[in-house]
Amino acid sequence: MILIDGKKVSAEIKNELEEKIKPLHDAGEKVPGLVTILVGEDPASSVYVNMKSKACLKIGMLSKIERLNAETTEEELLSVVKKYNNDSNFHGILVQLPLPKQIDEDKIIESILPEKDVDGFHPSNVGNLVIGKDTFFPCTPFGIVELLKRYKIETKGKHVVVVGRSNIVGKPIANMMLQKKEGANSIVTICHSAAGDLSQYTKQADILIAAIGRANFITADMVKDDAVVIDVGINRVEDAEAKKGYKIVGDVDFENVSQKSSYITPVPGGVGPMTIAMLLWNTYKSFLKSN
Ligand code: GUN
Repeated sequence: MILIDGKKVSAEIKNELEEKIKPLHDAGEKVPGLVTILVGEDPASSVYVNMKSKACLKIGMLSKIERLNAETTEEELLSVVKKYNNDSNFHGILVQLPLPKQIDEDKIIESILPEKDVDGFHPSNVGNLVIGKDTFFPCTPFGIVELLKRYKIETKGKHVVVVGRSNIVGKPIANMMLQKKEGANSIVTICHSAAGDLSQYTKQADILIAAIGRANFITADMVKDDAVVIDVGINRVEDAEAKKGYKIVGDVDFENVSQKSSYITPVPGGVGPMTIAMLLWNTYKSFLKSN
């Protein structure tokens, strides 16, 4: 079994980006900039936003966090997005999801200029992804594709089974693996909670992508021998021995599934770190396009 080291690959990508940005600093030129907008005080969202901002600064990008209170209205948030749509110092705009109930998430996503939508959530970017045109790939699926490429895992003609149909992971990764491109060209099945017995699908996977959001959901009996297993889950489970009283586990029962898989991503340290690396990549790409 080979452990797919997302921490190592994400560090490589961040180093590659840092090398590209350094000469801009040396020449006193504009550098790529990302603004992250956080509405409310959700602790997990706050942690993610801080991590994204720190990662930007570490490689020499400009970073700003806009913190808005939980009572912010849709109108107010729209006007903040508009401000950054028109600010040429910021090449990427990320509104951290989920948003408070009074705000229509779709409306906010659609208000971000597609050229600055480094999350790849705007309908026009989603459409471009589906029809195989260049676009911003959503960061988590993009990270998965990058891991498969850098570990030279064959995808052409392989059966990729995606468990989960979210707009952030399940739908985009399925569409990306379907494209007639290097690093994709797969046979793709998407399955989800309405399937009843999910194992009839998961057992067929050469590459199994678990994006369900339920701790240790994929058990060894659901996985074919020598499958490649990609675990997107980030779940908190109680752990009396841990300092914080909880630990983070994936959607895959790692201990048992790792014994029969050919490759597997751990949690933490697999897909998670890749999401931030690809966000930086998208911001750099937006910067290049703007020049
Ligand atoms: N919330 C959870 N994942 C994400 C993400 O990738 N982007 C944004 N904007 N919010 C999220």
